[in-house]
Amino acid sequence: MSNKKIIIAIDGFSSTGKSTIAKQLAKHLNYIYVDTGAMYRAVTLYAMLNDIIDKNSFDKQQLINDLNLIQLSFTFNPALGFAEMYLNGVNVEKEIRSIEVSKLVSKVSEISEVRKKLVQEQQQMGKDKGIVMDGRDIGTVVFPDAELKLFMTASADKRAVRRYKELIDRGDNVKYDEILQNVQERDRIDSSRKDSPLVKAEDAIEFDNSDMGLNEQFERIMSLVNDRL
Ligand code: DC
Repeated sequence: MSNKKIIIAIDGFSSTGKSTIAKQLAKHLNYIYVDTGAMYRAVTLYAMLNDIIDKNSFDKQQLINDLNLIQLSFTFNPALGFAEMYLNGVNVEKEIRSIEVSKLVSKVSEISEVRKKLVQEQQQMGKDKGIVMDGRDIGTVVFPDAELKLFMTASADKRAVRRYKELIDRGDNVKYDEILQNVQERDRIDSSRKDSPLVKAEDAIEFDNSDMGLNEQFERIMSLVNDRL
């Protein structure tokens, strides 16, 4: 393998297994992995904790005013093998995955000022390349010149089952129908918002992993990576 480092941008709908494959690639290549969804989730958690958003109301201007008070960072946890999300110095990895955050995050990620802040931070993290980043706008907005762009899809049913299992496994009390509805609602908002909607970059390679195992996905993607190294 050459010493060349590349940027791998992975976009796609919610719960398409982007982060699972991204973590595996980053580990194998010894690259940094950045889950940009975690950053939008952490900003949402901040807004919830500070009474800026709930299911009935959202004070957008207050969130915009507070943006310079929101400090996000990732710290690698060797026991887990990936970096965890910190909000103003506090580990929020578990809180940001809750269904309550999932229900509000699309509203927060529609705001251009929020996107501008996070995109700048993401570009900074990737300035030396050697990074795998997943999200919705990585190949289109954050790194339009990424050497490898992947666009992951899977049926809404398959994605909801995966997400449901994840939440049940960690002890959350959720119903399958609620998860399916949330997955579909987020798809709708994420693809129709005005600023940086979820679209496949022209040069992205589409992966439907509804019926593809992790090993097969990994092998296929690694062969694309090797072509670029
Ligand atoms: O990847 P995820 O499901 O954890 O992302 C949570 C939400 O954050 C998703 O519904 C849309 C938003 N998001 C975004 O707008 N842009 C990104 N690059 C990543 C996530």
